Amino acid sequence: MQKMPTKVKIYSILLFAGALGFLIYLLFAARHLSWAHIIFFGFLVWLAESLGIDLPKVGAVSVSFAILFAVILLFDPPTAILVSLFTTVVWRDIKERSSIYKWFVNGSIAVLEAGIASLVYQYSGGFSLLARNGLTYSDFPSILIPLALCAATYFLINTSLVAIAISFLENIPIVNVWLFDMKWLIPNYFALAPLGIIFAQIYVIAGAPGIILIVMPLLVAREAFKVYMRLRDAYADMVKSLVTAIEAKDAYTRGHSERVAKYSEMIARQLKIPEEKIELLKYAALLHDVGKIGVAKRILCKPSQLTMDEYRKVQEHPDLGVSIVKDVEFLKDVIPAIQHHHEQFNGTGYGGGLEGDSIPLVARIVAVADAFDAMTSVRPYRDAMTQLEAAREMRVCIGTQFDVDIVDSLVDALDMEEKLRPQFIEEKSTSMEEGQLTID
Ligand SMILES: [Fe+2]
Repeated sequence: MQKMPTKVKIYSILLFAGALGFLIYLLFAARHLSWAHIIFFGFLVWLAESLGIDLPKVGAVSVSFAILFAVILLFDPPTAILVSLFTTVVWRDIKERSSIYKWFVNGSIAVLEAGIASLVYQYSGGFSLLARNGLTYSDFPSILIPLALCAATYFLINTSLVAIAISFLENIPIVNVWLFDMKWLIPNYFALAPLGIIFAQIYVIAGAPGIILIVMPLLVAREAFKVYMRLRDAYADMVKSLVTAIEAKDAYTRGHSERVAKYSEMIARQLKIPEEKIELLKYAALLHDVGKIGVAKRILCKPSQLTMDEYRKVQEHPDLGVSIVKDVEFLKDVIPAIQHHHEQFNGTGYGGGLEGDSIPLVARIVAVADAFDAMTSVRPYRDAMTQLEAAREMRVCIGTQFDVDIVDSLVDALDMEEKLRPQFIEEKSTSMEEGQLTID
């Protein structure tokens, strides 16, 4: 079993102590607890979690937050805490057979997020919708502030506490974990909060049968979302098949497309490109050489130098690639990368004769990732360079072959800046000496 870092242990203990103190205080503060409500809503949250659909990145999509939000609005903080704790610790974790550590951490986060959000709602002017027979026109707009503060608090506490745990476990800066794994959840929470208000209102008016009726259309929506996710998987499988077809032609390039996708993603993250564009970039990187399917194997695998005629055939692969994917609707956006990944920054490349910033950004990124992987891989006619040697080589070609920002991003992502610095100092002093010689 993997040894847990000390800071993770300390974090878990602090989290547990905080949650326990909070729970004891709130249980003493509770005037009455309705176990029927706790079990009914606990079951609903568990059902929503069980029917959640896993996402390709982190987590799953479910409406459990909407139900928990409704509980916060309907009841008092102790009830909200117990519903949250009940579903997170008792049901969800038993089902997943989590480790005792995960069980404690999840339970503590459940107590803190539901308890604090519930207190924020009450202290900022919110009231129990069940006690006041629901919301009326006169409650608006003043009720919007406690509602917004409550949803924002729940989101921030949940995502921050989870981000800290991931950061400690995987040694990644907290901000990075939050930005890459959590930030994209904001629209999800904003969309589910109004649904929680509707759940609460319906419960006030029609009780448990009303809630069960409203769950029906949500199940239909869930099926539609599942079909969409299946379609996405089918796209990913199709891209994988095309990549296998490219690599079947040349044993030396096996794994090349995946590595180009990995380096492209690293560059894109350094450049702070939005998440949905990174997804597209990865497809573009995987398929950048799809046109090689149309180039003879004898040319692609030739161990000696290509003739002019053979080189012209190789240069046709961007056009061939575009002709392969152009009729596939979901691959339309990867065309610029396929068409222009052999352009050079000074305009001497091929694929369209573009130069500088007129070369699409995706193509400039794939070009750098492609060259870096080619240099660091074995070829029939040469050994592989080390990553440091390849990075130095690429620095020499900045402005002629490559875009400076993109090469810098790759170097930063590979964390090689420190190792490359002595070379810069050397280059600067050389160029100064050359400058002085010219002046003299
Ligand atoms: Fe290529």
